[in-house]
Amino acid sequence: MSRHNGGRVRIGIIGTGWWSTQAHLPSLAQYPDADVVAIADLSAERLRRAGDAYGIERRYSDFRQMLDAVSMAFCATARATAYADRIRLPG
Ligand SMILES: NC(=O)c1ccc[n+]([C@@H]2O[C@H](COP(=O)([O-])OP(=O)(O)OC[C@H]3O[C@@H](n4cnc5c(N)ncnc54)[C@H](O)[C@@H]3O)[C@@H](O)[C@H]2O)c1
Repeated sequence: MSRHNGGRVRIGIIGTGWWSTQAHLPSLAQYPDADVVAIADLSAERLRRAGDAYGIERRYSDFRQMLDAVSMAFCATARATAYADRIRLPG
């Protein structure tokens, strides 16, 4: 699958907690040059709520499985630094 959608950036968000659902997802939904195409969270319930609210079909419990589907991923978890050594950049 292409990591790009025409000229639009395909974004994946790790963590669908407070910041993602109250700030990042609403803001990115208005942004013309990018699509949030995938989300990841350890909580199935948070994944379901965020995915349903923003129409995001690709949902992952393990963020590493999401990376090949996106051109950019950013981390909005409470433990970002703890996982930084395990996150690799897409492509
Ligand atoms: N809430 C605030 O006012 C605020 C302000 C400034 C900065 N921040 C920072 O923003 C970050 C997120 O804050 P929040 O309030 O959204 O936290 P939150 O607890 O509401 O959400 C974090 C989410 O990350 C998920 N998560 C944790 N580890 C994960 C992993 N390995 N893979 C996938 N998902 C994982 C959790 O399940 C949770 O749903 C934190 O680093 C926090 O310090 C928060």
